[in-house]
Amino acid sequence: MFVSDGLNINEKNHLTIGGCDTTELAKEFGTSLIVYDENEIRKNCRAFVGSIQKNYNGNGRVLYASKAFSCKEIYRIVNDENMGIDVVSGGELYTALSVGFPAEKICFHGNNKKHSELTEAVDAGVGRIVVDNLTELESLNRIAGEKGKKVSIMFRIKPGIDAHTHDFVRTGQIDSKFGLALETGEAMQGVKTALAMENVELKGVHCHIGSQIFDIDPFELAAEVMMKFIKDIKDETGVTITELNLGGGFGIKYLVDDKPEAYENYMDNVAKIVNKKAEEYSLPVPFIYIEPGRSIVGATAITLYTVGAVKRIPNIRNYVSVDGGMVDNPRYILYQSDYEVVCANKINNEKALTATIAGKCCESGDLIQENVQLPEVEAGDILAVLSTGAYNYSMASNYNRIPRPPVVMVKDGQARLIIKGESYEDIIKNDI
Ligand code: LLP
Repeated sequence: MFVSDGLNINEKNHLTIGGCDTTELAKEFGTSLIVYDENEIRKNCRAFVGSIQKNYNGNGRVLYASKAFSCKEIYRIVNDENMGIDVVSGGELYTALSVGFPAEKICFHGNNKKHSELTEAVDAGVGRIVVDNLTELESLNRIAGEKGKKVSIMFRIKPGIDAHTHDFVRTGQIDSKFGLALETGEAMQGVKTALAMENVELKGVHCHIGSQIFDIDPFELAAEVMMKFIKDIKDETGVTITELNLGGGFGIKYLVDDKPEAYENYMDNVAKIVNKKAEEYSLPVPFIYIEPGRSIVGATAITLYTVGAVKRIPNIRNYVSVDGGMVDNPRYILYQSDYEVVCANKINNEKALTATIAGKCCESGDLIQENVQLPEVEAGDILAVLSTGAYNYSMASNYNRIPRPPVVMVKDGQARLIIKGESYEDIIKNDI
């Protein structure tokens, strides 16, 4: 009945996550509060890792796209699950290295990496730098040369695929700020330039077609286009590219009625294309990377809020205000994203109220969701917004100088703090 297996209802008519009563969590840690279920995270990791084993004989690696949720503990968990990571900034890299994440299992992305970030990545010895453009290629070659190193790179390619998702999270089409286009010859030019360089070693090609994608077809098409590009590189330069990174983007359940494919289905179908094309083109099957972010953490977390004011505007709408909002979840204001919202302490009560869940920011658009069916709620009730594990905390802000909430990890009925809530002192610490 819920979007995640880790959620349940106890005898008190309360929502539980990972065996913990959410109202107790709210009492112990305060609200707003983000709660992750460790077993669910690990289950998702294992589904992807298992399918690399099954489809490619283990000849590949799952990289957790840590932009979805980055903190020390998540890096420890995915490392423990034998995964690598994708980082997109010096900050994510720094966080991962701070817990001893193996540098060789880190893949560094970004469409405009700063000189300082490229230097940090080279110094740390990250496994792969995914080069986005020729300006970056030149800088990286120079930085590596100055340090007497040879750096392993991949190229970010726009495969020219239009995935059916929100405009802001589509990335595979030609009109995208990410990567080199195939159609214009820019990608092949990049490959030839890199092959002639002293201090970079071109290991592979990468694509990522978008996020929250429910269809399998665009992934299959991307694999097909990328295998053809590897063949074209071989034909034009004689060089065999040995690694293919197919990105992330697998859709998750936000609403009970959402029907995403099982992750295994995406993986199985794409593998069929990769294997078939390798045979057809007489190429070795490349080492495969995938980069799931949302599908690892998205449905594994919830956000708990305490209800404050309930404002009923006759014939217009009912506002239920909570003690968080766009500061901890900007996805409704940005993408009008759907979420399930439930009253955690009245979970099975009759749903008699149609509500708009409003945040506490000075901003009319600061809503979490509209037209939600809730029981009659009052100040002090606890609301839970489900599937808030991806791109919520990681996109949180301090708008209105609201401190970021704490984050808790639950496992088998036990809860532990993994990120402290910010204090007012934290908020002013960089002010001079
Ligand atoms: N690899 C690359 C190169 C990416 O750019 C992304 C996501 C991923 C992997 C992971 O994609 P996922 O499996 O999480 O879909 N803030 C937006 C999503 C932005 C996605 C950015 N790139 C949202 O809240 O929906």
